[in-house]
Amino acid sequence: MQTTLASSSAAAVETELLVVFAVDEATEKGAKPAISLLTEEASIQQAAAQLLTTEEFAGGSNETLLLHAPQGLKAKRLLLVGLGKASKANSHDVRKAAGTAVRFAKPRKLRELAITVPAGAAFEAAATARAVIEGAIVADFDPDTYRSDRKDQSIQSLTVVAPAGLDQKAVETGYREGIVIGESQNFTRFLVNEPGNRMTPTILGQKAAEMSHEFGLKCEVFGAEKLHELKMGAFWSVTQGSEEPPALIVMTYEPENAPANGPVLGLVGKGITFDTGGISIKPSDNMEKMKYDMAGGAAMIGAMRAIAQLKPAVKVIGIVTAAENMPSGKAQKPGDVQIAMSGKSIEIINTDAEGRLVLADGLAYAKKLGATHLIDAATLTGAVAVALGQINAGVFANDDDAFQHFSKALNTSGERFWRLPLEDEYRDLIRSDIADIKNTGGRYGGAITAAMFLKEFAEETPWLHLDIAGLAWLDENKAWMAKGPTGVAVRSIIEWVRSYAQ
Ligand code: BES
Ligand code: MN
Ligand code: ZN
Repeated sequence: MQTTLASSSAAAVETELLVVFAVDEATEKGAKPAISLLTEEASIQQAAAQLLTTEEFAGGSNETLLLHAPQGLKAKRLLLVGLGKASKANSHDVRKAAGTAVRFAKPRKLRELAITVPAGAAFEAAATARAVIEGAIVADFDPDTYRSDRKDQSIQSLTVVAPAGLDQKAVETGYREGIVIGESQNFTRFLVNEPGNRMTPTILGQKAAEMSHEFGLKCEVFGAEKLHELKMGAFWSVTQGSEEPPALIVMTYEPENAPANGPVLGLVGKGITFDTGGISIKPSDNMEKMKYDMAGGAAMIGAMRAIAQLKPAVKVIGIVTAAENMPSGKAQKPGDVQIAMSGKSIEIINTDAEGRLVLADGLAYAKKLGATHLIDAATLTGAVAVALGQINAGVFANDDDAFQHFSKALNTSGERFWRLPLEDEYRDLIRSDIADIKNTGGRYGGAITAAMFLKEFAEETPWLHLDIAGLAWLDENKAWMAKGPTGVAVRSIIEWVRSYAQ
């Protein structure tokens, strides 16, 4: 997608489709909608005036209304997209609505469009310009890669039109950042979308290395030998049953302007390229979905891609522990005891609780490499989706300050995470009779006991754990996003990292 930023009159833009956002100003319950277009341009207001006297459009969230040959405008079509109630609408609604506009255009064979950045007190210029371009780029992604009859409907050209009254410098900053972040989120989605036979640990390592080369990160990809050398017994126990070699991916961002004794952020992602469950094998229903079990790792690779371009003044290490979880004659068995890199012994109760095993050694390795703050992302438990549904992902923290940084990051990213508890009493559920800890804690609090397991390996280092199992894959199309991989967490991790710069 070719993108341009234009600071001109939207009415003068020659385009197939001019997109303008609208809100409903009505405040009384049950009152008729009072539509207000978020543009100062009288000619656009006039072009839509008659249409708005009908009750065809209520300005609801992601509601659309198309007008052909709008009078007085250079555009061939005018598309109104609703942001909902005026009192509540913010830049996060704009992100979705811009996506809705793109996904409106795609099946109608419109390959070019222009979106007007809304102005108004609720729409800070940089955040709003950023939201427009992010939403548009994310919406342009479709997952139908391997269909022979695939029609390439992708948008060829997008113009972001910033009204003259906005702070042009802020708009430009937001616009540039939005391109980087939206494309990085899509890169993550591409990685997650690939099937297990085409995104093995080795291939994931190659993709990370290619990306790192392109954007100037250092990247090393290690194999089985390194796992043995580092005594990564937990990571090894998962990969030992597979014919596919594991990959320990290490990406490093070390800017010259990072303060000498400043924080070192360790980003650790679960990279299970396919999760059969191992000997504790999963039922076949929906097992095909387990190709997305590397979404946490892919989120870290996508975040590193953006960090390399946004260049925050803070050192960042990205680690992905990539493996397949397979049953075989060499696979680990329930009852086996493994010794993790940190020296802790682990009783394997269920070989399907493999994500925490690869992360245990990933976290230990990040600390060994000097990380002072840790964040991990993983499609770790079905239980988190039972608890929070597919609206919020789970976040856990052993440190309130690190969590505050994350909470602020969410205000910028617009993603939704809900904090879950990590109190000491939960530790009892993963006590083992034979080893230091066991790898499952039973039915109750499944997302929490998984996090408690990881906490043992983060130890005293400030640490956040993102359980994205419920949100990494979208089962139904949304107006603003295709079904399939979502790239959840990428934007929030980027903002969390940036919050430590300076
Ligand atoms: N990868 C799964 C978790 C998962 C489930 C991700 C559904 C996405 C959608 C993870 O490795 C797993 O199998 N977890 C088990 C843990 C259990 C054995 C304690 C689970 O959630 O059932
Ligand atoms: Mn599993
Ligand atoms: Zn898994």
